Amino acid sequence: MYQKPNERLAGQTAIVTGANSGIGEAVAMALGKDGANVVINYISNPEAAEELAQKLSNDSICGEAIAIKADVSKEDQVEHMFKQTIDHFGTVDICVPNAGLQRDYALHEMPLKEWQFVLDVNLTGQFLCSRAAIQEFLRRGMRPEISAALGKIIHMSSVHEVIPWAGHANYAATKGAIIMLMKSIAQEYGPQKVRANSIAPGAIQTPINREAWETPEALNKLNELIPYKRIGKPSDIGAAAAWLASDESDYVNGTTIFVDGAMTCYPGFTTNG
Ligand code: BGC
Repeated sequence: MYQKPNERLAGQTAIVTGANSGIGEAVAMALGKDGANVVINYISNPEAAEELAQKLSNDSICGEAIAIKADVSKEDQVEHMFKQTIDHFGTVDICVPNAGLQRDYALHEMPLKEWQFVLDVNLTGQFLCSRAAIQEFLRRGMRPEISAALGKIIHMSSVHEVIPWAGHANYAATKGAIIMLMKSIAQEYGPQKVRANSIAPGAIQTPINREAWETPEALNKLNELIPYKRIGKPSDIGAAAAWLASDESDYVNGTTIFVDGAMTCYPGFTTNG
């Protein structure tokens, strides 16, 4: 569907982590399409990150896009990524801690290192990025001509912040924790005009859940969990992120937006219970 260019993020700089594929890539594209400068963070596959940076930089609406490698679970690498961004673009206005992964095990067989790895990337990574973003928002101060907020943080959560997930307890635990990280930030820094919100995607067609959609049988089974009867597209999440980053959502703070085709509406109860 053709969408008219929108310049609602012009003059702003966004960092999107894990932006070389899947949801992160779509968020980077949506923010760029609305006029932002975009930092495309990645850890592997530099070619994809560079290609996206080129594509966005060539777009007449998008500001400039650059790719920066950093492991979001490492404090020094996150600090360095923010420093590089600020040296290059002057400041950061929008932070989307999106990088996340799954390491699925039955709980009684889950090695401690796989529990820890998922927590380090999905939760500590979001803490480190939010902390660095807030430090920069506070240092820079308000620019009312650019945005009504001091800065915007958009945490990438999941429907599994509320839906328990057998065989994925490490992943679900990180998403449950992101609710309180996000709400605590909204409460603590709301007075300084920082907005922190989450997006909770349902099943979105990306590499993370390839098994759930790559055959027609798998997709039919997945659709049983989705009242709206279609798998989500990465751009569904990009659209929500661009709105949350813009002043159109200025009074939205401390909440999760579910973008899930009603997956959280207990579809098993449609014909049961
Ligand atoms: C997971 C996907 C899953 C979806 C819905 C996401 O957070 O990463 O693997 O398909 O939730 O269950």
